[in-house]
Amino acid sequence: MNTHQAIAYGKYLWHAKNEHSVHSPFLYKLLEEAFYHPAVCDDLKTLDNWYSTITCSKEKFEHIDLGAGSKFGEHRTKQVGTYTKHVTKSRKYRHLLFHLTRVLQPANILELGAATGVSAGYMVKGYSKTKLITLEGCPQLTAIANKHLRLLGVEDYSVRAGHFEDTLLQALKELDPVEMAYIDGHHEEEATIHYFNQVLAHSSDKLVVLVDDIYWSEGMTNAWKTIKAHPRVRQSVDVFQFGIVFLCPDLAKQDFIIRY
Ligand SMILES: C[S@@+](CC[C@H](N)C(=O)[O-])C[C@H]1O[C@@H](n2cnc3c(N)ncnc32)[C@H](O)[C@@H]1O
Repeated sequence: MNTHQAIAYGKYLWHAKNEHSVHSPFLYKLLEEAFYHPAVCDDLKTLDNWYSTITCSKEKFEHIDLGAGSKFGEHRTKQVGTYTKHVTKSRKYRHLLFHLTRVLQPANILELGAATGVSAGYMVKGYSKTKLITLEGCPQLTAIANKHLRLLGVEDYSVRAGHFEDTLLQALKELDPVEMAYIDGHHEEEATIHYFNQVLAHSSDKLVVLVDDIYWSEGMTNAWKTIKAHPRVRQSVDVFQFGIVFLCPDLAKQDFIIRY
């Protein structure tokens, strides 16, 4: 943890509340059903076994990192298992992704940052009727994510290779209106706000956006502040690891910091 993250985490622990401090019936129900008392689901055992297999993989790939926004990226040979452990969320948050889609039932999900397909797998398994498009800048990772999602038996999905700047618009046009988006790549302030605004332009009021690593850097924290202050955002939930925003106009404008 760097200094920015450590200070932010201290503030988070100080301010975070549970579902009993939430007066929004919509959010209270979501917190109960997805965060604190989710239903026991056999699919999670399948997903956790699938995840373990991926993290044990010694398969090598050439990683092209576009995270810093470069069109060409940095090349390095990496192992699928080690890379997966490095870029994916802990079990608790992977389960949260599953329960969020199980409870919210979005007709479609757009993910920016597939990596090896793990978060895509947990999200799409939460609601089998959803259509998923996930974007990934590293071509070899695209093939690996594809293979992992196929192994999971997921049907309506597509993994697209290329810089988000080149693939996002087409994906948005296909999904319009987007109902759920997970921004989990290219963690820079301007880029994150830009991707959020693009998603917003192709969404209905049902849209739910998850923004990963909102305390990763000062820039990401600024991006999160800008996103939650957007006039179309009604409620925001900060669980430190990521932030979630809801657009539904029936909701009162409120920001919540939720202990999880
Ligand atoms: C944190 S990882 C995603 C992890 C994944 N969502 C999961 O939890 O299983 C971010 C991914 O985004 C990709 N990425 C970063 N910036 C990108 C960009 N500008 N265009 C396309 N892909 C990008 C990286 O190659 C990396 O695999």
